[in-house]
Amino acid sequence: MRILIHAPEAPRWQETLRRELRPTLPNASIVTTQEAGEGPADILVVWKPPASLLACQDASLKAIFNAGAGVDALLSLPGLPDVPIVRLRDAGMGALMADYALYGILHFYRDMDRYRQQQLEHHWQEQPLDDRSAWRVGIVGLGTLGQACAQRIRAQGFEVQGWSRSEKHIEGIKTHHGDTGLTTLLNTSRVIVSLLPDTPETRWLLDEQRLAQLPEGAVVINAGRGTTLDPDALLGLIERGHLRGAMLDVFPDEPLPAQHPLWQDPRVIVTPHVAAPTDVSAGARQFAADILALTRGDSLDTVDPATGY
Ligand code: NAP
Ligand code: GLV
Repeated sequence: MRILIHAPEAPRWQETLRRELRPTLPNASIVTTQEAGEGPADILVVWKPPASLLACQDASLKAIFNAGAGVDALLSLPGLPDVPIVRLRDAGMGALMADYALYGILHFYRDMDRYRQQQLEHHWQEQPLDDRSAWRVGIVGLGTLGQACAQRIRAQGFEVQGWSRSEKHIEGIKTHHGDTGLTTLLNTSRVIVSLLPDTPETRWLLDEQRLAQLPEGAVVINAGRGTTLDPDALLGLIERGHLRGAMLDVFPDEPLPAQHPLWQDPRVIVTPHVAAPTDVSAGARQFAADILALTRGDSLDTVDPATGY
C-alpha cells in the first residue's frame, strides 16, 4: 500500500503516521510529495493539495484523507476523484477551539475591550459587571468543534444554545435548526460563535440582515470559515453601534489584505487562522485507525460531497 502525504505545513504527519501504522501495516510505504514528488497512490493524506496531485491519480486510489476539519479547499478542486473522503474529527482541535471561543467571550463579558481603551486614555473607571445570565452564547454550527465549545462554555456558567442543519438533542444545551431556528438563536444570543463549514448553503449566511437580528451590544466570534460571514456588514453594524465588537480568526481572503479596515478597528480582534491547530499525533492516530478500517472493508465516517462538509 502506498500512502502519499502532501501537507508541507505539517511535516510531522509522515513520522507519526508511520509510527501508528507500522505494527499493523509494516509493509505500507509512507512518503511525502516533497520526497517522492506527485504520483499515483492508494491513499492520499492531504492539506490544500494542488489540483495536479489529484490529476495524476489512477484506479488504485481508495480514499483521500483531509488533514484538517474543513474540506472546502479540497472539494473546490477540479477533477476530484470519486473516492471516499475522510476528514479530521476533533484531533485536538475541540479543546483549542473552546479556549479560543472562551477567550473571546470573556474579553467582552469582562469589559477588557473597554479597559484597554481606558488604559490608552489613562482613565481609571470601574465598569458595571453584568450577570452571566445576560450573556447567553449561541453556537452557530454545532458539530464536533461547536459541541466541544458548547460544553466548555456551559461549564463556565454561561447559558448556551446552538444551531445546526439537522435537529439535535444535547443535554443542557438548547438546540435550534432551520431558518426560524437561526432567527431565534440570533435574537436571543449576546455572543455568537460561528463554527460553520464553507458550503454552498452557508456561504455569506451571516449577512447584514442576519447579523442585524442580534440584540444591540452583541458580539460576534467567527472561527469557522471567513466566507460564511460578510465582514463589511459586520463592520458597518459595529460602526453604527448596533454590535459591540468581534473576534475573527477566518476571513474570505487569507491573509486578510493589509489595507482591510478590520485591521484598524480597536473593537475587532483579528487572529491569523490559528484558533485550533491540529494535534498531528491525534490526527495520525485517527487516520491510522481509519486506514486499517478501510483495509478490513469496514465503513468509514466520510464527507458528503453533496452537502459540502
Ligand atoms: P462538523 O463536525 O462538520 O460541524 C459542522 C456543523 O455545521 C454541524 O453542526 C452542521 O450541522 C453545521 N452546518 C453545516 N451546514 C449547515 C447549514 N446549512 N445550516 C445549519 N448548520 C449547518 O465540523 P467541525 O469539525 O465542527 O468544524 C467546523 C468548521 O470549523 C470546519 O469546517 C472548518 O471550516 C472550521 N475550522 C476552523 C479552524 C480554525 O483554526 N479556525 C480549525 C478547524 C476547523 P449538522 O450537525 O446538522 O450536520
Ligand atoms: C482548519 O481550518 C481546519 O479546517 O482544520
